[in-house]
Amino acid sequence: MNFNYLYKNYLSSLQEMYRYRYLSNNNMIKTDFLDFSSNDYLNLSCNIELINAAKLAADSLGVGTGGSRLLAGNNYLFSNFETKIADDKKTPSALIFNSGFQANSSILAALLNKSVLGAKPLVFFDRLNHFSLYQGVFLSAAEIIRYQHNNLNHLNDLLLKYKDCKRPKFIICETLYGMDGDVILLSEIVDLAAKYQAFLYLDEAHATGILGNLGYGLSTTIDMSNISYAVMGTFSKAIGSYGAYIACSLEIKDYLINNCPGFIYSTSLAPTVIASAFKGWELIKGLNKEIKALLERSAKLRVKIQELGFDTAKSSTHIIPIILKSEELTLKAYNFLRDKKIIVSAIRPPTVPANSSRLRIALTLKHSNEDIEKLLTFLKEL
Ligand SMILES: Cc1ncc(COP(=O)(O)O)c(C=O)c1O
Repeated sequence: MNFNYLYKNYLSSLQEMYRYRYLSNNNMIKTDFLDFSSNDYLNLSCNIELINAAKLAADSLGVGTGGSRLLAGNNYLFSNFETKIADDKKTPSALIFNSGFQANSSILAALLNKSVLGAKPLVFFDRLNHFSLYQGVFLSAAEIIRYQHNNLNHLNDLLLKYKDCKRPKFIICETLYGMDGDVILLSEIVDLAAKYQAFLYLDEAHATGILGNLGYGLSTTIDMSNISYAVMGTFSKAIGSYGAYIACSLEIKDYLINNCPGFIYSTSLAPTVIASAFKGWELIKGLNKEIKALLERSAKLRVKIQELGFDTAKSSTHIIPIILKSEELTLKAYNFLRDKKIIVSAIRPPTVPANSSRLRIALTLKHSNEDIEKLLTFLKEL
């Protein structure tokens, strides 16, 4: 059998649909291009304090841990950082994972375990959730019931439909959607979780460092002690480094340490990574003025983009989509801007649903007013 031929056939079909992806040279982007595609929202990835923290950690602990946390790979950085995360997220405990993708896919597979729960769970799931969340549910083989994006009436209707069903219920959503830039109404979702006794799992990958008390995520803004919940977030976006966490009860932390293969069977994060993430986390609370200013500038940019006649969906943050619908148009617009030395993200299916391809603009602390003006000048020409 000619395997290469089969895979190549698949790639050709992607090309025909303008869905083919390729790796670009990001060094070139950083130096020669004006980059609106990065999730390094607070520009912490190049912050000298994070870099020094990484250097110090390498000096004292080396650049690899030599094993999983349960074997050789644990050290004081993890426990100190987890205590801090739990404090700032106002949860009893926290557990660090190697990446956001690994966290979502392995934590959900573990939490939704049918034999532990006693029955196959029902998962009420925002249809625009990140693929890693889908992956976790698929791995668990739980029953997935998708609700329209951020439509709480629809979520309520679905929960109501299953109200007499005794199977364990979960609600899974992001707090700030990474491709749409819109924010959920958390207090209403918590009310629904309480009313229908559902477990709430929140992904704060894009909200961590941007929303909530001192920037530590939307979950910090409301009391959720009346429900069972867990909040996941990453260090790979606003925090400027890499890795992820789950803030949760002591019981869930202990359960994951014992029954989450993505935690148990993977070498822990290198000291350089964890030390820089820890430093980024600590810096967040001193950046509140900057975060507020970033959101204000984003609001102004969004209005100007709308005045050009573009659809920015329901964005209310620094992530601004320009919905162009077709893949072909999106790629054309991306290439046009790239020719002008501006990089935005060209987001196409399967990352977003069919007919909702878009340019994704992420405003960061790095962007000056001139950068924003330059972007607007060329958006006008699209
Ligand atoms: C909502 C969401 N969750 C999880 C992830 C995965 O995080 P990581 O990049 O740290 O693997 C992403 C990454 O883009 C994301 O957007």
